[in-house]
This record gives sequence, structure tokens and C-alpha cells, in this order.
Amino acid sequence: MTNAEDLIDKIKDIPAMPNVIVKALGIIKDGQSGTKELGEIMAYDQALTSQVLKLVNSAYYGFAQEITSVSKALALLGMSQTRNIIITVAMKPMLTSTGGREMWKHSLRCAVACEYLADKVVVADTSDAFTIGFLHDIGKILLNICNVSAYHRVKEMVKNGEDVIDAENSVFMTNHADIGFLLAKKWKLSVLLANCIKYHHDPLASSMPEITTLVYLANALAHDEVAPFDEKMVKEQLGLDKNEIMAYREEILERANSLFSTLNAG
Ligand SMILES: [Fe+2]
Ligand SMILES: [Fe+2]
Repeated sequence: MTNAEDLIDKIKDIPAMPNVIVKALGIIKDGQSGTKELGEIMAYDQALTSQVLKLVNSAYYGFAQEITSVSKALALLGMSQTRNIIITVAMKPMLTSTGGREMWKHSLRCAVACEYLADKVVVADTSDAFTIGFLHDIGKILLNICNVSAYHRVKEMVKNGEDVIDAENSVFMTNHADIGFLLAKKWKLSVLLANCIKYHHDPLASSMPEITTLVYLANALAHDEVAPFDEKMVKEQLGLDKNEIMAYREEILERANSLFSTLNAG
């Protein structure tokens, strides 16, 4: 048994995935008939619905006329975009309560960066890009739940220049990528999503190196200061050079800020 498995077995309060996400993901797997059903599920959760509609009507999506129902949003945005919005809104309480504002902001930025970059470079399977970016650090939630003060120590080590994976390994005997992967499996997330979570700090170890490199790069860009990244690998996997990437980052931050302020307003 690896240490991550050991640890996840010991955590009593593993967060359940919010019910509406489970249903939303399940319906999407079923395809076609899902639209009506998803609208119906949302109708039972008024608070969530109003948050979703607020986001749909924000500058981020830029619709000229007001969208007043989830089914209308589905018709205009399509299933995967609507699902991205639902996941973002439904996960917010869990992310902010355990990871704080920083984690929430970083996750949103990474989601926007993944979606943006997936649009610029041709990699397989990008409809999930936003959600992958949004959930990439979900393992940090578990490490936080497991031991808040130990995780605080990790953060201090990272502030002092230590690599996050090394710091977590030394404090927890595992890291957020490995344990996030196990959580993704428990939550029955897709293989692609689980894989990106596991390898986002070591993309070439993944069997899907392109999309994982995309998440790796998005993560680097999603910090307040751009984290150092392997430019040669990024060029090889995604065909992007540093100048291009830095220009993209400007736009990514702007888009993320508009999303952030919409989601934080009420
Ligand atoms: Fe990470
Ligand atoms: Fe991250």
C-alpha cells in the first residue's frame, strides 16, 4: 500500500462530491436526454441556480440578452460549458472553506488558463479543460483536512523556496498529486481528469503528456507570480514559446478576474 492510500484510508471526513455535480457528471455520460434532466435537477436548488445564472450572465460569457433559466443556458452554452459552470459554483464552498481564498483564486485562474490554452493549441479531449484546471489541486483539500497545521508548515516551506511536492512528501509522506488522484477515483471522475491531477507536476510521466503539460503550464501561470516552468518541454508538447505564453497570460488573468468578481459578488 502506498502512503497516499494509507493516508486516504485514515481520513474520516473525506468530502463527498457535491450531489449536484455527481448528477451533472452522470447525466453528461448519458448524453442526449441529459439537457432536460439537468434543468430539472437544478430547479430543486434555487441558491445554486441563481449563482449559475449570475455567472452565465456575466461578462465572461458576453451574451447580449439576459438568460433567465438553466435550460436556456444549456441551449446557448451547451452541456459541457454549463456543466463547467455548475461544478465551479457547487465546489466553491468546499474550496474556500478548506483552502481559503488563495486556493479558490488559484483554482479559478487555472481553470480559465486551461480553457484558454486548450483553445489555442491542439490537444486531444479539451471539452473538460476548464474542469480539469479547476480541480487540479483538489488533493490539497485532503491534506488540509488531514492536518491543517502540518499543511501550514508545507506552505511556509514553499514560501521559502522549496518545491511543493517535495515539501508535502517530507511532511505527509505523500503529496497532493497522488492523493488527489485517489480522491478523483473515489469520486469516479474520468480517467483523463484523474490522470491530469496525478501528473500535473510531472507531465511526461503521464500517458497523456500533451493535455497534462497543458495543465502543468496553466498551473504555473495561475500563481500571482508565474512559477518557473520547463520551457523546452512546453515547446515540445504544446508548440508554445515563452513570449506567446506571457501574452496569453495577460488575457487569462483578465478573464479570470472578471469571473472571480462575478462569483464573489454575493
Ligand atoms: Fe499542484
Ligand atoms: Fe496548482
